[in-house]
Amino acid sequence: MILSIESSCDDSSIAITQIDNKKLLYHKKISQEEAHSCYGGVVPELASRLHAVALPEILQETKQYFSKLKAIAVTNQPGLSVTLLEGIAMAKTLAVLHDIPLIPVHHLKGHIYSLFIEKEVIFPLLVLLISGGHTQIIRVRDFHHMEILATSIDDSVGESFDKCAKMMGLGYPGGPLVEALALQGDENRFDLPIPLRHSPLIAFSLSGLKNAVRLKVEACGGKENMSQQDRADLSASFQKAVKLHLLQKSKKIFAKESIKDFAIVGGASANVYIRSAYLTLCQEFDKNLHVAPLAYCSDNAAMIGRYALDAYAQKAFVNPHKIDIIRTKKQQAGMLL
Ligand code: KG4
Ligand code: ZN
Repeated sequence: MILSIESSCDDSSIAITQIDNKKLLYHKKISQEEAHSCYGGVVPELASRLHAVALPEILQETKQYFSKLKAIAVTNQPGLSVTLLEGIAMAKTLAVLHDIPLIPVHHLKGHIYSLFIEKEVIFPLLVLLISGGHTQIIRVRDFHHMEILATSIDDSVGESFDKCAKMMGLGYPGGPLVEALALQGDENRFDLPIPLRHSPLIAFSLSGLKNAVRLKVEACGGKENMSQQDRADLSASFQKAVKLHLLQKSKKIFAKESIKDFAIVGGASANVYIRSAYLTLCQEFDKNLHVAPLAYCSDNAAMIGRYALDAYAQKAFVNPHKIDIIRTKKQQAGMLL
């Protein structure tokens, strides 16, 4: 069995995965959303202290598996350094204590493997990763070969939902709130720009759209003076612009890539409006659409454990003294995961 730990942002999570049949035996996550809600975003120092309380609390529940553990896996990048370190400290201690290997897991690769918690592995695969920290299209050939084809040059999709929600006074995390409100709104009421619409760049950009939303909020008299219908209409118009932007750039990649399987992962992949737009796009381009079960879209240790199974088979271990949160030059340059 492998014990996996996730603490890259505001979710404390631990999972136990069986090595021989890849079954998820235990999984628990304590979300800090409520604690950060009043700030309209994650406060790293607070998140770190909450992990220090929640992780040991969850670990207690996994004691029965300790004698059968063959490895410890932990998210070591990317993420908030102070929160990553909470999980890493626990993982190092467990690996040394039980004298078993330590597996470092790249958080975004974990999101990709969220697809395979309840399904067989599908490679090669094109992946749209939309989370709170990243917006990328990745070509995944196999466990070792993952190449970034397009990335955001500024904000991520999840972040833009969070910031727009904050501007309208909706709370945090903004994604589910904006999506729910948009259901009652008119997506054609506000004229918002579709990012990079006339640019040949195959990349994503959300900060200009965010600014356009800010101007609309001001035009409505500020968040305090907006009516609930204003908020719903602006949510719907914003979500539509995000969708059109993602689709436009994805189409350019679809036209060039022969890979038949396409997946959407990450916290914002829970968005049904975006999912259904991709279903239509995949039909148009004759691609198969894959999504992770809703429970595994946002951050969780089950996906870290699933990735760790393949890493364990490859003996991709790291010395507990050497595990770090520093990224390689190629990763920093945004070329490789
Ligand atoms: O993957 P995730 O849990 O954490 C990161 O790795 O960043 O993603 C969290 C992000 C948040 O920004 C949240 O607002 C967004 O995912 N999100 C959504 C939805 N549910 C969560 N965005 C749009 N629509 C949703 N339904
Ligand atoms: Zn994530």
